[in-house]
Amino acid sequence: MGSLTHLSLLVTDLDHTLVGNDQSLHRLNQILDRYRQTWGTKIVYATGRSRASYQDLVATQSLLAPDALISAVGTEIYVGDAAIPDPEWVDKLNVNWCRERIVDIASRFADLDAQPQSEQRPFKVSYYLSPSVVAAVLPQLQELLAQQLLDVEIIYSGSKDLDILPRGGDKGTAVQFLRDRWQLDPTQTVVCGDSGNDISLFKYGKERGIIVGNAQSELRLWHELHPVNYHYQAVAKCAAGILEGLTYFRFVA
Ligand code: GLC
Ligand code: MG
Repeated sequence: MGSLTHLSLLVTDLDHTLVGNDQSLHRLNQILDRYRQTWGTKIVYATGRSRASYQDLVATQSLLAPDALISAVGTEIYVGDAAIPDPEWVDKLNVNWCRERIVDIASRFADLDAQPQSEQRPFKVSYYLSPSVVAAVLPQLQELLAQQLLDVEIIYSGSKDLDILPRGGDKGTAVQFLRDRWQLDPTQTVVCGDSGNDISLFKYGKERGIIVGNAQSELRLWHELHPVNYHYQAVAKCAAGILEGLTYFRFVA
């Protein structure tokens, strides 16, 4: 590979990150497919969607089959063709998680509008919340959950989606879990995202991070507050932004 850096693992969000620019997606797919065949590069999709909703997307987009799918904002991991979520990950999330009590507390907030049933998952409770009331609702919700000793992570994305997950059930922790299992180096791992539920991808390890040019303000702001030289803010959008970042980090010539 000459002076290129070896790419062991590419982790990418789907909506508005990998998907959104068909021409660049096609080019990136070609490169990744070649790397996968030549170097055994692994590909992981990390999405907020449920697996069923991911399958809807697969029906309309040309996506490479991933080595693993992280769905429902990190709370489910499907390795290879597995039909059920990874049981070891399920066991980790099952500690101190009580879905009914969380739903009960959230139901006291009139501003929290439940998302469709298909997006309500065993370890993910999801609502729509208007940005105009976020600053008022979030601290109260956090306080009530903490009073009940419910150790959760609350993630707000794209100025509309609010997800409540077990602490340590996010996309970033799921990536650390897979990277440990596969024994892959963080410096040969790339993570890519555009919105609030992707912040965790950048937070825990020294993975090379690409923020696509069309990223939402919450991720941009987080990046501004936590600048490190292994995170790159691309100018180009979606898959073109990923290609720009891969070139910047010299994973691609
Ligand atoms: C996806 C999911 C939704 C979630 C959002 C943000 O759109 O379908 O449930 O709230 O991502 O994480
Ligand atoms: Mg996205």
